[in-house]
Amino acid sequence: MNHFLDIHKTSQADLRAMIDQARAMKDARRGQPKGMADAEKPLDGHMVALIFEKPSTRTRVSFDVGVRQMGGQTLVLSGSDMQLGHGETIADTARVLSRYVDLIMIRTFEEETLLEMAEYATVPVINGLTNRTHPCQIMADIMTFEEHRGPIKGKKVVWSGDGNNVCASFMHAAGQFGFDFTFTGPQTLDPEREWVDFARNMGVKCEIERDPVKAVEGADLIVTDTWVSMHDPESAKERRHNQLRPYQVNAELMKHANPDALFMHCLPAHRNDEATSEIMDGPHSVIFDEAENRLHAQKAVMRYCLGK
Ligand code: CP
Ligand code: NVA
Repeated sequence: MNHFLDIHKTSQADLRAMIDQARAMKDARRGQPKGMADAEKPLDGHMVALIFEKPSTRTRVSFDVGVRQMGGQTLVLSGSDMQLGHGETIADTARVLSRYVDLIMIRTFEEETLLEMAEYATVPVINGLTNRTHPCQIMADIMTFEEHRGPIKGKKVVWSGDGNNVCASFMHAAGQFGFDFTFTGPQTLDPEREWVDFARNMGVKCEIERDPVKAVEGADLIVTDTWVSMHDPESAKERRHNQLRPYQVNAELMKHANPDALFMHCLPAHRNDEATSEIMDGPHSVIFDEAENRLHAQKAVMRYCLGK
């Protein structure tokens, strides 16, 4: 059994195999009704718990549909409705759930919650987002880039905005898949130094550039995300908006990237804050392919976890 906790904790060979399998599974069901099960049913007889301590649209629906397409069943659980939200320990919750289900996906706040769940569960645990990382999203993003532009190895990815959890997983992917990464944003919202060092130690260029126009020169992909994440205090909103306004992805900024550069956003977006609608709905944007690919990429992640 394998946990899927983070991209930097998973081997390059396994990551590559998951992306390739996700693409093959997507191809195999092209044109089929969404509710129709796959021809192959690797999760037949399997029960999957999907735990949400934060809101979700994409993660919730894509995991649920993905499990069903592979012949399994799901339990979608809200953290606040469980005893977990009322004082039961994570370790006890993990041990109990492991007696009922074959796989656990959890979206939570602190990374420690995820790690404790993985330590005490006797079934695989998948990271559905923490305050610190969002690996399933970036698996879908790598798959999406490669569908449109071929191998991501050697390309240049630029993150413009808040150096948050999604940015962190992109930096892990830079090291693991071998692409260069530039962060552009205000210093107070820099990504964690540990992730910069991780990418650099893996032998790729990982730069911090305060000037967004300079940052996007030669970019093959520009990525952004909300300026205020679910774990950020509401009181941070006004300051962040003022700090991040110069890093908005708009037509003017896009002009300085490579002409065939792609634009990604994990969604949900605050249109005309971090990116203009012109960019989100324009020819560079692949945001809805990214959303779709959550389904296919996570199906491969679940198969990897269960050894199927
Ligand atoms: N991108 C993403 O994880 O979306 P949800 O918050 O809707 O799951
Ligand atoms: N950075 C965002 C991602 C949402 C999918 C958040 O954590 O709220």
